[in-house]
Amino acid sequence: MSLEEFRTSTPRRRRFAAALTLVLSALPALTGVGTAQDGVLESPIGRELAIGREVAIQHHLRDDEEFRIPLAALIAYGKQLFCANWTDQDGGGRPLTKGTGKQLTNVTAPLTGARSFNRISGPDANSCAGCHNAPYGMAGGAGDIVSNVFVLAQRFDFVDFDRRNGLATAGAVDERNRLVDLESVGNSRATTHLFGAGYIEMLARQMTAELQAIRNTVSVGHARPLLAKGISFGTIARTADGLWETSGVTGLPWPSLVSHGSNDPPTLIVRPWHQAGNVSSIREFTNTAYNQHHGIQSTERFGVDTDADGDGIANELSRAAITAATLFQTTLQVPGRVIPRDPAVERAVLLGERTFERIACPACHVPSLPLTEDAWVFVEPSPYNPPGNLRSGETRSLRVDLNDKSLPAPRLSLNERRRVVDVPAYTDLKLHDITDPSDNRYRGARHEPRHVVAEVHRGQPPVLTKRLWGAASAPTHFHHGLFTTLRQAILAHAGEALASRRAFDALPADRQDAVIEFLKTLQVLPPGTKDRIVDERFRARSWPPMDAPAEHSEGAK
Ligand code: HEC
Ligand code: HEC
Repeated sequence: MSLEEFRTSTPRRRRFAAALTLVLSALPALTGVGTAQDGVLESPIGRELAIGREVAIQHHLRDDEEFRIPLAALIAYGKQLFCANWTDQDGGGRPLTKGTGKQLTNVTAPLTGARSFNRISGPDANSCAGCHNAPYGMAGGAGDIVSNVFVLAQRFDFVDFDRRNGLATAGAVDERNRLVDLESVGNSRATTHLFGAGYIEMLARQMTAELQAIRNTVSVGHARPLLAKGISFGTIARTADGLWETSGVTGLPWPSLVSHGSNDPPTLIVRPWHQAGNVSSIREFTNTAYNQHHGIQSTERFGVDTDADGDGIANELSRAAITAATLFQTTLQVPGRVIPRDPAVERAVLLGERTFERIACPACHVPSLPLTEDAWVFVEPSPYNPPGNLRSGETRSLRVDLNDKSLPAPRLSLNERRRVVDVPAYTDLKLHDITDPSDNRYRGARHEPRHVVAEVHRGQPPVLTKRLWGAASAPTHFHHGLFTTLRQAILAHAGEALASRRAFDALPADRQDAVIEFLKTLQVLPPGTKDRIVDERFRARSWPPMDAPAEHSEGAK
């Protein structure tokens, strides 16, 4: 295309052409690909458009290139995508669609101009890292309260609470034509961190496989207990008619329990993502998040060569790009422990750790779960991805050994003798209701507004047991982020956790302090820290100390 042709072509065609120019030269230094020899840098469109163009991502990864470039380059590209400040020239924004991906209720009021961003219904941010960046400004981290997301408000076009706007889910009234307010429009949730995410997702996949294997042995008229990695998920049964009975299943979200008849068993998928446990894979979350927060549509979710949101740009993120973004997140460093070399603190941490066990906190916050049978090799895509996401078998799978020392440190390691990788995340990956319905201190904090639950969720979702690894580095605590201290979080446990909380209440003050001191050690370490268990200067140390009576030990390797 000559410059003249470029000037006279429609912006739409021009952008479309640009988006289709899937060039890889962002990575030449890392990969040695994308050189002139590939022909890609020679693309006249690519070069011409580079001048004066304002895009976050100059060069797009083409499908299948994810299999050709080195893993380190793929992950580095994924990080770029996670940190990219999307512009309208990248295809940022979604003029005609909601954060759910559906068409706007009122297409005569597109999300352009003054309506381009909306802090409540989205698009609400410039980059993923705009929210996920704590501590140390690390991409993939947790977020400040300012980065809370009003989950489910994305079903509105543009929340403005304007009473004159009477269209359902346009901006002020809900599906039942009732006015919404800041509390009922969505559920304000704090930004979680993704450190160690690959290990977590693989735990969930192995647990799903275990639950499904048990399910497959339940004969008509019988029931069986559901156990995965030693954790009970209640009981599954079949009626005399062969129908699936899931009322005895615990800790799984409703989508995992749906059955449409005797030949359609519930999937029992353990969904570790979203604090309400709705999402089974980082990939699925990523496809959703790019659209919701940034108006960037992936081809696998929205189609190839289609302009789903009416911004004039197609193919905003390729399958290869989503794979890169997924692998960046799933290979992030794991959280560690910081235990200062101070005898008073060491004593408190040791006591706190044991007290934590004694008062049954591990009933939900299971200190460690084992990955077995090579499940420390992360496989992308997940076999449990729903439609709208790349699924197993649609293309080659990519495998990454999560323990690989060339990935960001610190990492977990294989226990050679037991052939397991212990994942000390302090969770059971189950949903629990730990709220007290009579406690009104944190209204809205508790759950989804009830009418939303009824219409959107078909049942009350409790929340996943918070992974406590890294918790001491998060700016806020609990799914709503309303707590600034770990102590507040503990004191807010009720419902299913009531006995445990009462046991905490009954402890003498110094024991309570010891529990807090233990939790304070669960930190995300500064980038580049090699060892997972370190002292206050981030130097390796062993734990528990040699002279402590051993109950259970975690050694620095
Ligand atoms: C406006 C702030 C914000 C932006 C921007 C944002 N996130 Fe998040 N993210 C959150 C919040 C809040 C949660 C917790 C959601 C929940 O619990 O329902 C979350 C959760 C997640 C999770 C699941 C983690 C977990 O613990 O369950 C993943 C994965 C994720 N985000 C990836 C992304 C990606 C990829 C992007 C960019 C495309 C992105 N996020 C952009 C705020 C944000
Ligand atoms: C019945 C299950 C259960 C038990 C028992 C339990 N917890 Fe929790 N815990 C949870 C759930 C669920 C959350 C997430 C709550 C939320 O996000 O709203 C949580 C969150 C937390 C958090 C907040 C972490 C963060 O950064 O947001 C801390 C700290 C915590 N628990 C500590 C404890 C301690 C200490 C005990 C023992 C006294 C305990 N928990 C017992 C289920 C449990």
